[in-house]
Amino acid sequence: MLTGKGGVGKTSIAAATGVKLAELNYRTLVMSIDPAHSLADSFDLDTELFQVQTSDPLPINERLAIMELNIQKEIKRHWKEISSYISAVLRTTGITGVEAEELAILPGMEELSAMMYINQYRREGRYDVIVLDAAPTAESMRFISMPTTLDWYMKHIFPFQRNLLKAVRPIANRVAPFELPTDSYFLNIRDLFEKLEGVDEIMGDPKVTSVRLITNPEKMVLRETQRAFVYFSLHGLTVDTVIVNRLLPANVTDAWFKEWHTSQEKVLTEIEEYFAPVPVKRVPLFQHEVLGKQRLEDLAQVLYPGQQDPSAVTRMEKSYTFAKRDGEYEVQVLLPFASKGEIGLFKKGDELVVEIGTLRRHIGLPRSMAGLQPGRARLENQVLTIEMKETQ
Ligand SMILES: Nc1ncnc2c1ncn2[C@@H]1O[C@H](COP(=O)(O)OP(=O)(O)OP(=O)(O)O)[C@@H](O)[C@H]1O
Ligand SMILES: [Mg+2]
Repeated sequence: MLTGKGGVGKTSIAAATGVKLAELNYRTLVMSIDPAHSLADSFDLDTELFQVQTSDPLPINERLAIMELNIQKEIKRHWKEISSYISAVLRTTGITGVEAEELAILPGMEELSAMMYINQYRREGRYDVIVLDAAPTAESMRFISMPTTLDWYMKHIFPFQRNLLKAVRPIANRVAPFELPTDSYFLNIRDLFEKLEGVDEIMGDPKVTSVRLITNPEKMVLRETQRAFVYFSLHGLTVDTVIVNRLLPANVTDAWFKEWHTSQEKVLTEIEEYFAPVPVKRVPLFQHEVLGKQRLEDLAQVLYPGQQDPSAVTRMEKSYTFAKRDGEYEVQVLLPFASKGEIGLFKKGDELVVEIGTLRRHIGLPRSMAGLQPGRARLENQVLTIEMKETQ
């Protein structure tokens, strides 16, 4: 899964990664869930031809296919009952026609649809590798926790709601301002849920799913990348590479770019410190856009020099975990290089800063823990466990 802030280079890097994987003989699918599709553009395909897209994979060569999820088609395929019910409810409030249909596309539907396909292709063993080009971080982040949330809903709320509605529907429909959902609405939900079954295990297994964060060497982009890193850690996904894209090449010496060189260098150092020991890859700013097969191959060569395999998992350890045990919050940090020494802990904004000897780590805290202060800490088997407490 390749993800990062808008415009950092996700689609180009996803496409180049697909090109390389196919070259290494993997049956590869590059899937885009970005609503502003540009995957086909990236391959410089005739977009006219692509306008008639279905959501189905489009072969590029024998080993490589690309797929751009089309939400309208997905709604017809998977979300019909749910979205038509939502439009019906909206209509009773005076929102009509196209607007109601537009609003019935709920946030997360695209991501969930993508996960259904991933699950399906995995069950069928259709591809060796799926490269997911995931939309800008902020909006799409929540979807990684959806299967878990849905699981809870299906166990605790769904059976109750469905039965309750069966009982009250005949009476309620006479008095309620809008019709209550029919049983087919619930069947649709159950059907979708079955399609998602097991996908959270795929996502949470570092041997199967690697998250690669793409960033640019700019302070504002880095902040968002750090937030994404925290969020993925929180949801148990493993980030195994950070890719810094659009580094100004050293041979650009024009005075205009002087400050860019300095600031990029500074942010790059910060990136390497912050994400260590997660490996950081660097990609230069090319002289041109990354368009068409040749340029994708050039990009792939920079990303994966020689025979380097993009599907190789470079890390399985989660850098940190957040837990709540017996009502107490704790943060566990993996410190593979830490030697024993005095541990310094303090808060800086909503970050927890850990110092051991010369080593310093900044850990962004999830919102539920941002207001807490570090308490006791212990280091065991290279894992530092820090208790987090309310301030008195
Ligand atoms: N290293 C690079 N050098 C030159 N141009 C680049 C580089 N990386 C990406 N680009 C160009 O920058 C533009 C944006 O890249 P891309 O579409 O891959 O980003 P994205 O993260 O997918 O954007 P969005 O969030 O809008 O989907 C494209 O025109 C692409 O060709
Ligand atoms: Mg894109």
